[in-house]
Amino acid sequence: MPQTNPFHSLVPRKMTDTELARSIRLNIEAELDAINLYAAHIDATDNEDAKAILRHVMDEEREHAALFWELIARLDPEQAAHAKEAVEKYRLITSGASHEAVEAVGKEGAEPAAAEELTPQKRLTVGSLRR
Ligand SMILES: [Fe+2]
Repeated sequence: MPQTNPFHSLVPRKMTDTELARSIRLNIEAELDAINLYAAHIDATDNEDAKAILRHVMDEEREHAALFWELIARLDPEQAAHAKEAVEKYRLITSGASHEAVEAVGKEGAEPAAAEELTPQKRLTVGSLRR
C-alpha cells in the first residue's frame, strides 16, 4: 500500500511551528484516510465482531484527526482564523445569506451579517419545524 513518506517535509534540526504544522497536516490526511478505509471494511463484511472493532478504531481515528486539527490551530494562526470564520460562513451559507455577506466575514471593517440579509424563506422559525 503506498504511503506518504513521513520524513519528506522534515529537516535535520528541530522544526519551527510552521514546519511542524505542515507535518501535522500530513498526519490529519493519514487519519482521514484511515477513517475511510475502516468505513469501507465495515461496509464490506457481515462479521459483527469485526464491524464493532472497526467502528471503535474508526472513532479513535476521528478523535485523532480532531486533536491534530486543534494542534494545527495553535501552530498556524492564519489557519485558526479561517477555522473561526468558517463557523460564521457556514451559518450564513446555510441560512441563505448573500455571497457578498459570506465573503465579507473576516474582512476588515465588515459588519457582521444581519438577519435581515437572509431571505424570508431561508429563515428558520418555530413554525418551520412543523413542515
Ligand atoms: Fe490515529
